[in-house]
Amino acid sequence: MEVNQLPILSNVQVSARYWHMVVSAPGLVNRIQPGQFFNILCETTFPFLRRPFSIYRINKEEETIEFLYLVQGDGTKKMTEFKAGEKVDVFGPLGVGFTLEKDWETVLLLARGVGIATLAALAQEASNQNKKCIAILSARSHNDLLATETLQGLGAEVYKVTEEDGNSGVEYVEQLIENILAEQRVDAGFTCGSKRLSKLLQAVTRKYIIPSQIALEEHMACGMGACFACVCDIRSENATQSVRVCTEGPVFDLDKVVMA
Ligand code: FES
Repeated sequence: MEVNQLPILSNVQVSARYWHMVVSAPGLVNRIQPGQFFNILCETTFPFLRRPFSIYRINKEEETIEFLYLVQGDGTKKMTEFKAGEKVDVFGPLGVGFTLEKDWETVLLLARGVGIATLAALAQEASNQNKKCIAILSARSHNDLLATETLQGLGAEVYKVTEEDGNSGVEYVEQLIENILAEQRVDAGFTCGSKRLSKLLQAVTRKYIIPSQIALEEHMACGMGACFACVCDIRSENATQSVRVCTEGPVFDLDKVVMA
């Protein structure tokens, strides 16, 4: 991990609440795993705010990385002021990313909100490895389902559920997953972006004994294991262990995560 000043190629608003930033990262693109994150310096004057952002897309041919981010606080508001041609200070890649086992043929992604961006990078890697990807994307509204076309472009079978359509409740999503599992074999599950959907996936994958992983989105400060702002509980053999999401995660075995 390292700090880099990366040239911004574009930084544009793509919906009411989301922005998309593309940066040139020739030295980094081959060293990033989906699920890892960068700590980006959002506020370049005091108090020098850094915020964690997962990677949305890695373009190895053009040597760029992309971030799809939700504007929701001071840091992300400042980021919207970044202009193409300027440089952005990024620290990373940080943390442990997703694992895709060689013999997995079909994977199920369950993502909500900005978690969709995190799983989009995984869908890209799954597609590179010729794995089939089934994605259930949940959001407040259709406007927030930004990665749908990206995922479909990667060949994913996409199901959309939104509050707007009244079909994003846990019971509906549970039935949707049950239907998918009744029709086809799924080798692994992945989730990000919603506690209630993560709990659901944890329950379903336990029931069907399917390995599953989660990218946790804890509040982070240093991003490098020093401040313990990001601690969560993980079950080990017979005990519960507190771990730092920024260094031991953010990706964990979903079965082991203690859901609050
Ligand atoms: Fe500081 Fe994880 S954010 S230890």
